[in-house]
Amino acid sequence: MTDNWFNQAKFGMFIHWSLFSEPARRDWIRHFETLTNEDFEIYFKYFDPDRFDPKAWAELAWNAGMRYIVFITKHHEGFCMWDSKYTDYKITNTPYGKDILKETVDAFREKGFKIGLYYSLFDWHHPDYIIDHLHPLRNLPPSEIEEINSKRDMKKYTEYLHNQVKELLTNYGEISELWFDNSLDPNPDYPHLKGKGAKEWDSANLVKMIRKLQPNIMINDRLSLEGSWDFKAAEQYMPNECMMDNGKKIPWEACQTCFNNSWAYFRDCGSMKSFKYVLQILIEAVSKGGNFLLNVGPTGRGQIDPKTTEILNKFGHWFEYNREAIYGCTEAPEEFKTDPREVLLTYNPKTNRLYAHILNFPSHGYFILQDPNDRIEYARFLHDHSEIKFNDRETFGDTNWTGMQIFSFLHISDPGVEIPVVEILLK
Ligand code: GLC
Repeated sequence: MTDNWFNQAKFGMFIHWSLFSEPARRDWIRHFETLTNEDFEIYFKYFDPDRFDPKAWAELAWNAGMRYIVFITKHHEGFCMWDSKYTDYKITNTPYGKDILKETVDAFREKGFKIGLYYSLFDWHHPDYIIDHLHPLRNLPPSEIEEINSKRDMKKYTEYLHNQVKELLTNYGEISELWFDNSLDPNPDYPHLKGKGAKEWDSANLVKMIRKLQPNIMINDRLSLEGSWDFKAAEQYMPNECMMDNGKKIPWEACQTCFNNSWAYFRDCGSMKSFKYVLQILIEAVSKGGNFLLNVGPTGRGQIDPKTTEILNKFGHWFEYNREAIYGCTEAPEEFKTDPREVLLTYNPKTNRLYAHILNFPSHGYFILQDPNDRIEYARFLHDHSEIKFNDRETFGDTNWTGMQIFSFLHISDPGVEIPVVEILLK
């Protein structure tokens, strides 16, 4: 894997923000509640994030250890968060009135972030977008849908999509990542409606244009076109091992929400993921050679809610003591093996240091690391550099186990760090 920005950044912020933040009932609200364009108009009329402070967001994200963002420019609802010349359904026509994308990109770039953009291929607002089985109008009688679709011209939508992507990649400086969402197969429950994929998006020409405008960009894998992607997205799940393609390890990115089951601000969410859970995702992604994009869903006032803010602040605290176990790190060399339910390993190839993340301190009071070539020289907690003994006779008696090291926690008090890390220096 090349040592590009993606590989270095490791941790990013996904920002799902659009009109859907106002009803605050999830990003798929138009689909779930089958809301028409007219039903949704009220949110367009009143969108006014009066407390939006992109510099404060950038500060919060940077302190949390994040080094790139992926910002929703247009979600499935079709609303555009920038001043697009191809539509009136955009931020500059709301009471807010300013180009929110520009404000966000400027603030984050100034702080040192790489900028990624999310663009929804679905568009439930556009008058030429053919109704499919996910569309808010999907449950109209088939004859009525046929009638509506016969007046729609998908080619016009495809042109709109290409124009908008061009606009985004031309007017907002260097864009490092492009996150398309999504293609869809036909659904047997809606036999009268078609799926959409490379043909509908004209993915081949789209990708050609993108590569020309932003040669260094990383594109995700949702255009249904072989060879069009640079990394794969693992949405709301953790792969068992490094992601592979044709037997080769590939760049990949996990993305997960803080609100259970909603990307958008979800007022009545009920259950949030815990800090520890999302921290573990970051560690596990890095231990498998990947990145992690943690999602936030700002409110209609343009703020990140208190619970998400608390999670981000906790990341900041963790990074303060343990950042070396993430930045510059990737999966450990295969010779080192441990029980992944207890301990996850990351490794920095430049400094030749191994990091053992203790998921449930003190585990069983110890953990075992396979070390067949006897390479381990010294070990210490990362957060305070205090020594961690291994294979000590005092604790384990005279062991003659070969090819493995036992690290003992029996005499160590709780270090007060959520997932403590043992830094292992190799010979
Ligand atoms: C899914 C959802 C979409 C969300 C995306 C982010 O594709 O449809 O709402 O934006 O995941 O990963």
